[in-house]
Amino acid sequence: MIISGKALLAGVMGWPVSHSRSPRLHNYWLEKHNIDGAYLPFAVNPKTAIQAFQSLPALGIRGVNVTVPHKEIALQLCDHVDDLAQRIGAVNTIVVTEEGRLSGTNTDGFGFMENLRDRQPQWQATGPAVIIGAGGAARAILVALLDSGVPEIRITNRTRARAEELAATLNNERIRIIDWDQREDCLADADLLVNTTTLGMTGHLPLSLDIKSLPLTATVYDIVYAPLKTALLQDAAERGHPTVDGIGMLLHQARPGFKAWFGIDPVVDDRLRQYVLEDRTS
Ligand code: ATR
Repeated sequence: MIISGKALLAGVMGWPVSHSRSPRLHNYWLEKHNIDGAYLPFAVNPKTAIQAFQSLPALGIRGVNVTVPHKEIALQLCDHVDDLAQRIGAVNTIVVTEEGRLSGTNTDGFGFMENLRDRQPQWQATGPAVIIGAGGAARAILVALLDSGVPEIRITNRTRARAEELAATLNNERIRIIDWDQREDCLADADLLVNTTTLGMTGHLPLSLDIKSLPLTATVYDIVYAPLKTALLQDAAERGHPTVDGIGMLLHQARPGFKAWFGIDPVVDDRLRQYVLEDRTS
């Protein structure tokens, strides 16, 4: 590891931030590419978030990733926010420009799509997709699927009003809301099923979803990565569906930030996947 007086600095701001795997991930790439730099966890209390963001240019930090609960405030605080982040309603990557301005974007949808293309390259945006959930992750994924040309996207969420609000802000006729109780009835002609909820995550309830009516050619994607093989993915794999787990979304969403701060578009491979999953400290 090289950290000289000229080291390039970046990090992640969250509260708490101790669970974040981003430092492990970015420092792996820094070491791999022999870059004089460091990527640090910044535990930023919401009470001091404004000062923390505004101090980035003064400290000479090249930028940060932004995680819960700061993604919305980051959108407000950036001097420039691109169209994608505006539509998603959240900023997860900030680049400090040469002029000392904060430029915000959102790479979650990029990470989602790159992981899908990487793991299931035969997938095409030609059939309906079903999204389970309507939280922050669902929003980024919905925008990514709309932009990739998916003809119909069905959203089903326990709290229907939240799904309706999401659809209303994006105002696109390709979005349909499905009642939570009817979530199994909308699978029959779907081509992609995505779980964006916390259901199935270690310490959370399992996702209750019978996928027997889903066509066997449909890809099943769970963005949960702890555990890597959720009950949904196990069930889908046993039935013969192509499946995609969640770790790659985390790894790919990090690439644009790393490129902007450190100058290299890094590679996501199995070794990195293993290394990030091995993190037992979080
Ligand atoms: P994130 O930003 O990571 O997407 P979030 O905004 O907290 O997280 O969203 C969590 C998602 O999991 C929501 O869709 C939530 O449904 P509600 O909008 O009804 O809360 C969903 N979720 C969490 N616990 C759930 C449960 N027990 N049953 C059904 N859905 C659940």
